[in-house]
Amino acid sequence: MNALTRKLTLRYCTLLRRYIAKTQEEVLAQANGLGRAAMAGGLGVLEMTRIHQTSMVQLLREAEFAESQAAVMRTSETFLLEALSPFEMTYRGFQETNIRLQHLIKDTENANCSLQREVNKRKQTEKILRAREHRMRELLAESQKLQENLRQYSRQILCIQETERRRISRELHDDVGQTLTAASIVFENLVFSHPSTLEASLKDARALLQDATVKVHDFARDLRPTLLDELGLLPALRSYLDRFAARTGLHITFRAAQHAEALGEDEKITLFRVAQESLTNVAKHAHAHTVRVTISRTGPRIRMDVHDDGRSFHPQNFDQAAKRHRLGLLGMQERVRLVNGSFTLLARPGKGTQISVALPCRVPAVRRGSAKADGGAPN
Ligand SMILES: Nc1ncnc2c1ncn2[C@@H]1O[C@H](COP(=O)(O)OP(=O)(O)OP(=O)(O)O)[C@@H](O)[C@H]1O
Ligand SMILES: [Mg+2]
Repeated sequence: MNALTRKLTLRYCTLLRRYIAKTQEEVLAQANGLGRAAMAGGLGVLEMTRIHQTSMVQLLREAEFAESQAAVMRTSETFLLEALSPFEMTYRGFQETNIRLQHLIKDTENANCSLQREVNKRKQTEKILRAREHRMRELLAESQKLQENLRQYSRQILCIQETERRRISRELHDDVGQTLTAASIVFENLVFSHPSTLEASLKDARALLQDATVKVHDFARDLRPTLLDELGLLPALRSYLDRFAARTGLHITFRAAQHAEALGEDEKITLFRVAQESLTNVAKHAHAHTVRVTISRTGPRIRMDVHDDGRSFHPQNFDQAAKRHRLGLLGMQERVRLVNGSFTLLARPGKGTQISVALPCRVPAVRRGSAKADGGAPN
């Protein structure tokens, strides 16, 4: 027992004796004070109980209380409870503080969670913004490139228009003009011709005029295929391929699904022009024998393939062609893009070239199940 405990035990014993002798509130208040002093000195409930025990043993030995032990025990209990009450109060205070602390911890955790959520949300928004900015930059670059392409196309189109006008003027002058001049000379000479040669001269003049008529028709057809408007895409294409095969000696096969007629006007002229340019390229560059032109339906799209068995070319020719302002392939691509179609070029050097175009068909197909409505080789 240390000095403090000894001192407290003495005081406790004195106060308890006084209280048992006369139960006064004032003594109880002192018991409470003693409890507080014990607590301040670092003593716990166990030590207090021991102090009480020691005091009781001593008091019960005293003659004064020997007779009334039961009453002493009861009264001392009230005293003990009062001495312990500061411990009880402190313990309750601890519990309450603990509960408040736990609430505080929970609140802090909740706040942390929502903070974390906020941080995550901001990070996500930041990511989306960065992605959008990146996409915007890409779109800007794309649109600048498209603008540049557009400018280049416009320049090239103007240049081509000029070349085309010159070609038409030259051909009209050299070809149709010459033929008509020859016919007019024949007519002029009719006045002086001998009756026996009159019939032959008239035949010559008629042949020249027929020749001129055919040439004018060919021009008109090439400039705008009227058959396309009058009879539809497939007859116009077939007629064009017939004449092309006759002119070039190429063997051309043509198979087409009737569904192609359900295409819109822009799509039809696009297919026609792509076929025209592809065929012209075959005649100009391919050294081919056979060309297969196929039009088929794949789901909601109409697809055209132009395949030749010529020498084909390396893809870098395509880039060089673009640099040399060659417009055929680029023009085809651009036309197809304008009607939301897709364009594919398969160049296999030594094994032929295939141009494929797929166009969306807005109008539902006219006749279902007639996938091979047309077929045949024009030449
Ligand atoms: N079917 C083909 N077979 C072989 N080479 C081809 C074929 N189609 C295109 N090429 C090659 O691709 C190049 C580009 O073709 P493109 O149609 O763009 O230009 P071009 O025919 O040379 O000129 P343009 O069409 O402007 O009068 C051609 O110069 C040629 O070398
Ligand atoms: Mg070309």
